[in-house]
Amino acid sequence: MDGTIAANEAKAPAKVILTGEHFVVHGARAVAAAIGQYLTVRISESNSDVLISNGRKFAAPHVLEKIKAISGLKHVKVEVISFIPRSAGLGSSAAFHTASVIAAYKVAGKRPDLSEIFREALDLEAHAHKNPSGVDVWAVLLGGVIIFKRGEVPIRLESGIREILLIDSGIRRSTGALVSHVGLLKERDPEVFSGLVEIADHLSELMRKALQQGDVELAGRIFKMNQGLLKLIKVSNERIDKIIKKLEDMGVYSKITGAGGGGYLIGLPVRKAPGIRTRVARLAVAGAYELSLGEDKRIY
Ligand code: MEV
Repeated sequence: MDGTIAANEAKAPAKVILTGEHFVVHGARAVAAAIGQYLTVRISESNSDVLISNGRKFAAPHVLEKIKAISGLKHVKVEVISFIPRSAGLGSSAAFHTASVIAAYKVAGKRPDLSEIFREALDLEAHAHKNPSGVDVWAVLLGGVIIFKRGEVPIRLESGIREILLIDSGIRRSTGALVSHVGLLKERDPEVFSGLVEIADHLSELMRKALQQGDVELAGRIFKMNQGLLKLIKVSNERIDKIIKKLEDMGVYSKITGAGGGGYLIGLPVRKAPGIRTRVARLAVAGAYELSLGEDKRIY
């Protein structure tokens, strides 16, 4: 696959969640952004059904069935080329599902509206984890930076903040298991949980302001508070807490992005920190990158 998008292909970006992960499942607003790492899906007619991801056979029968139902093809070969790490909180499953749905509609020669693409991709997400809020699919589908409340259409935000640090904790985990774990906490203690949902919602509103005003310090402090909430619902762990502490000592406020348990952290330097990228890269983590928030290319 080269840089151009063919009639049987679709490309979708990774995403980060700036505020509100987990709580968005239960009604809080979340702020999310697409980032410039991509996954491409190509669909061809075939004698039997096969899915190949980065050169290896991969089992996702629900995706193959959806692609066949939308495209009208009897059997399909689906090739995925992905530069998005899996099980790392960067939305690789949302990118895969969304790109699969768009490519299938392209093959069928149809162009439904955005909400139809969203519904079909969300249906696939529900196989991956039982209770997706939809924030991941909207973030990859709309691109840019969005604020989103479950059941509503997201709003695109202008952001004066573009640069973020992406830090790989090196731990891979399952979004579904973490979402279920949080669901149990809510069942056990609904009143306390609803208080946390309110705080998370408020942090998303504050993040909207911080982004619009380009206020990196405020955004960093919101990261720190949001991470506190994620710790309370036990989706952080000792290793992540240690990395976050080291980052804070360097003047970088950071948090989990996505379901937590490991995966990537996002960070913002909240004071002038010369050579910060080199110093972060030297931390005992699996990788650290500087990325631009809100990849603006619309994929549909
Ligand atoms: C995962 O990227 C975000 C979660 O809030 C789940 C969801 O909203 O579907 C943990």
